[in-house]
Amino acid sequence: MALAPSYGGQALVPLHVAIIMDGNGRWAKARGLPRIAGHRQGVSAVRECVQACIDLGIRYLTIYTFSSENWKRPAAEVDDLMGLLRFYIRREVAELSRNGVSVRFIGERSRLAPDINRLIDESEAETRANRRLTLTLAVNYGGRQEIIDAVRELVRDARDGRIEPGRIDEALFRERLQSHDLPDPDLVIRTSGEQRLSNFLLWQSAYTEFVFTPTLWPDFSRHDLENAVKEFQRRERRYGGAGG
Ligand code: IPE
Ligand code: IPE
Ligand code: MG
Repeated sequence: MALAPSYGGQALVPLHVAIIMDGNGRWAKARGLPRIAGHRQGVSAVRECVQACIDLGIRYLTIYTFSSENWKRPAAEVDDLMGLLRFYIRREVAELSRNGVSVRFIGERSRLAPDINRLIDESEAETRANRRLTLTLAVNYGGRQEIIDAVRELVRDARDGRIEPGRIDEALFRERLQSHDLPDPDLVIRTSGEQRLSNFLLWQSAYTEFVFTPTLWPDFSRHDLENAVKEFQRRERRYGGAGG
């Protein structure tokens, strides 16, 4: 198969794919529908994408679900998005768990409703032992905030004499990130033609490959994911070296 996990001894299927799902609103607008219709259809695309990742042997999938800046949207849309998040967790987690998916969340939890926090805790606990795919939902997530939180912790530890400032290096810093147990994303996909990071995984994407596709998120299919992986497989990752 074209997308075999390894080729010539080099692992070619990305270990960690992260997705900025974008274009739900435009998808709905093009059909004369309210934005929520696009978000609903977007949930179906998430479902298909998770299954496709399992089938391809991708081990980590991280999905940008709600950014720390998305609170700027009208309250009704924020409510709709939070409602869909509840719906997704309630409806999908049992099935995800049966499929060997471990579900986890990154982002600032305190601003989320108590019942959502409870659902998050329960779903993380219920799926913790699963190993096939780690599905991380970034909810009220902002890359800059994640970095600031890590800095705060380090400064506190330094002040209290628990760490020596001179010993702070990339590895120590990474340990303080909320996403510390995820490998850096190998591939970030953004749909809808926008070509920006919008505050997603800033630290982690230092050497990530980016694939931008004009497809709007609700239309994103298994086929689009496979195409993005193929594009990734054509890239030469150099990490600053001279390349081959
Ligand atoms: C992505 O679609 C979903 C979220 C950001 C939650 P958008 O809602 O951003 O759709 P567009 O960009 O307005 O088309
Ligand atoms: C990024 O999409 C956030 C998520 C996908 C959750 P946005 O649609 O919010 O990004 P901008 O505002 O176009 O940069
Ligand atoms: Mg958008």
